[in-house]
Amino acid sequence: MSDSQAISTAVANLYNTYPFPPEPLLDEPPPGYNWRWNWLAAYNFCTGRKPARQKIRILDAGCGTGVGTEYLVHLNPEAIVVAIDLSAGALEVAKQRCQRSQAYRVEFHHLSLYDVEQLAGEFDLINCVGVLHHLPDPIAGIRALAKKLAPGGLMHIFVYGELGRWEIRLMQQAIALLQGEKRGDYRDGVQVGRKIFASLPENNRLVKREKERWSLENQRDECFADMYLHPQEIDYNIETLFELIDASGLEFIGFSNPAFWDLHRLLGKAPELMKRAENLSDRQRYRLIELLDPQVSHYEFFLGRPPIAKADWSEDKALLTAIPELSPCIDGFPSQCVFNYDYQIVHLSASDLDFLKKCNGQLTVADILKNVPLDLNQVRKFLQQQLILLTPAQLHPS
Ligand SMILES: C[S@@+](CC[C@H](N)C(=O)[O-])C[C@H]1O[C@@H](n2cnc3c(N)ncnc32)[C@H](O)[C@@H]1O
Repeated sequence: MSDSQAISTAVANLYNTYPFPPEPLLDEPPPGYNWRWNWLAAYNFCTGRKPARQKIRILDAGCGTGVGTEYLVHLNPEAIVVAIDLSAGALEVAKQRCQRSQAYRVEFHHLSLYDVEQLAGEFDLINCVGVLHHLPDPIAGIRALAKKLAPGGLMHIFVYGELGRWEIRLMQQAIALLQGEKRGDYRDGVQVGRKIFASLPENNRLVKREKERWSLENQRDECFADMYLHPQEIDYNIETLFELIDASGLEFIGFSNPAFWDLHRLLGKAPELMKRAENLSDRQRYRLIELLDPQVSHYEFFLGRPPIAKADWSEDKALLTAIPELSPCIDGFPSQCVFNYDYQIVHLSASDLDFLKKCNGQLTVADILKNVPLDLNQVRKFLQQQLILLTPAQLHPS
């Protein structure tokens, strides 16, 4: 067996023992949403406009127990979803999960990311969350996925960051030392790990980090094992992350947690430093942000295969003739206090609410503004807040 095969076997064993994530199975669609799994919201975030098609093909690459897969099916009612994973145990749970909540538009394959070319056709959206960093060769993995991404398609990726996982890596090594020959026995590893935490002094750095950041989720052995016993983990920093992204041959569209990557929240009180930062490239600015805020334990972002048609709403005419509709990812509507796609509270004026109520996918922005006293910049703000999706005039069927 090659090293790479041995690692894949060890990874599959981990998830066969502790299928992840361990969320309970429900007899109905899961509550709420994650906008990154909603094609309309994700596409709008990446391009500033509504996608032309909703009959799309989605690949959940490394689906685990299918928590994301189930959302992908329910949140995209016209999509066909394909889900693959290396662990037969995790796949079994994923199938049951989808069956129970009637997420039927999905097929599962026991397949490695490396072999994804065996699947027929291309995909418009590829979701690969928490997987690439567990491959012995993540570059081969991302390249294999990139080949299956359709032109104009989007890929959402989540990989670990080294700065915020420093204590985790130390604990992983400590457990491995104490396990010795028993390494690979994941139940033994959980016991050893829990005993270490119970024995360390309260003010110990590893204990403090575990308590303040991770302990809630780590009550479940599946999560504890996923964090502290992983046989294969590669953590990234901004520089190595962009090596991975560049190797994919795809376009980097942006982080899907943009608030974290805003330098203003760190240096906003020092305009002279903000001015200096204007000379930095995007990548240098991201690096600066993570150096100044090293809690970053993961990177989540969208890549795309060109051509990605990005909308430009700076011209009034284009905006006035566009057709707006409400984003599917807002909660509490209609009310003057709603949650946006990211579950942030947005307060709406009476006119804001009036405008949004008229966003029925038929009227243009100009039509609505005839009866609602708002200016175009407020409409642009709705876009920024992802409260509306816009279809450019020339693409609208009517
Ligand atoms: C941390 S779990 C993430 C599960 C899911 N994507 C989620 O976010 O809920 C990682 C999953 O990746 C799978 N995996 C690891 N290496 C893989 C590979 N080479 N091909 C396919 N799946 C793989 C594991 O079996 C495991 O189920």
